[in-house]
Amino acid sequence: MYIMKKVTRPLIIGNWKMNPQTISSASRLAKELKSALAKFRDTEIVIAPPAPFLEHVSRARNHSSVFQLGSQNVHDEKMGPHTGEVSLAMLEEFDVTYVIVGHSERRSEGETEMQINKKLRATIKAGLVPVLCVGERERDLGAEYLSFIEQQIRTALSNVTRAMLARVVVAYEPVWAIGTGKNATADDAHEMKLFIERVLSDMYSRKDAQKVRILYGGSVNEKNARDLFMQGKVDGFLVGGASLSADAFVGIVSEVHAS
Ligand code: PGA
Repeated sequence: MYIMKKVTRPLIIGNWKMNPQTISSASRLAKELKSALAKFRDTEIVIAPPAPFLEHVSRARNHSSVFQLGSQNVHDEKMGPHTGEVSLAMLEEFDVTYVIVGHSERRSEGETEMQINKKLRATIKAGLVPVLCVGERERDLGAEYLSFIEQQIRTALSNVTRAMLARVVVAYEPVWAIGTGKNATADDAHEMKLFIERVLSDMYSRKDAQKVRILYGGSVNEKNARDLFMQGKVDGFLVGGASLSADAFVGIVSEVHAS
C-alpha cells in the first residue's frame, strides 16, 4: 500500500560549532539572520550556537519565530556531578527546541553509541527534538558503509518507541563530506535517504518511517543546496561552515525556498 508522505516544511539547521569567538559577533550574526530570514516563513530554521552564546542569540531573536534555537549537545542525566556538561533543563531556560545528538565531531571525541542512545531518549522525554547524526567515515566499494549506518541507527534508537520516533530527526552526514568542500552527490543523498527510511520501516513500519524527517549535512552551500534538495529529495539540511555567514546561510535557505 502506498502511503502519502506527510507534508512538512523543509528544516534547515545552522550548527555554529565552536564559532564565533565573541559575544558581539554571535549577537551580530543572530541579528542579521533574524532580519534576513523573516521572509522565509515556509521553512523551519534552527540555529545551534555554542552554549555560552545561547542567551545572546536568544536575545537577538527577541522572541520572534523566525528561527528556533538548537543545542549542539546535551547530557542525558537531569543534574549532578558532570563537569563541563549542560542539562536539558538548562537548555529549556533558553527555549531550545532542537538538540543535535551524535554529531561525528562528538563521536570522534569518544562519545559512545550508548551515550547517544541515552541522550536521544532523554531529549525526547523532555519534549525536545533530537537531531540524530549518522554517517560513514568513508565509502567502500563493497558498500559496507550501509551496514555501518544501519547499525548506528539501530543502536541510537534502541528502546525508542513508535510514539517517540515521531519526534526524531535524522541527519545523514558522511564524515568525509563534513568541512571538506566535498559534498555527497544528490543521487547519493537520495539513495541514503531511501536507505534510512528502509531501516526505519524494518524497525517500525513504513508509515512511522515516513514521518521522520531526514536531512543531509556535509559541505552544503548555496551552489549545491538546490540540487541536493530537489534531486536528493531530503527534508532539509544540517549546515556547518556556511551557517557562519549570514549571506551564505540565507543563500541556502532561499535556494530551498525557490525549489
Ligand atoms: P559543514 O558541516 O557544513 O561545515 O560540512 C556540517 C556539520 O558538521 O553539521
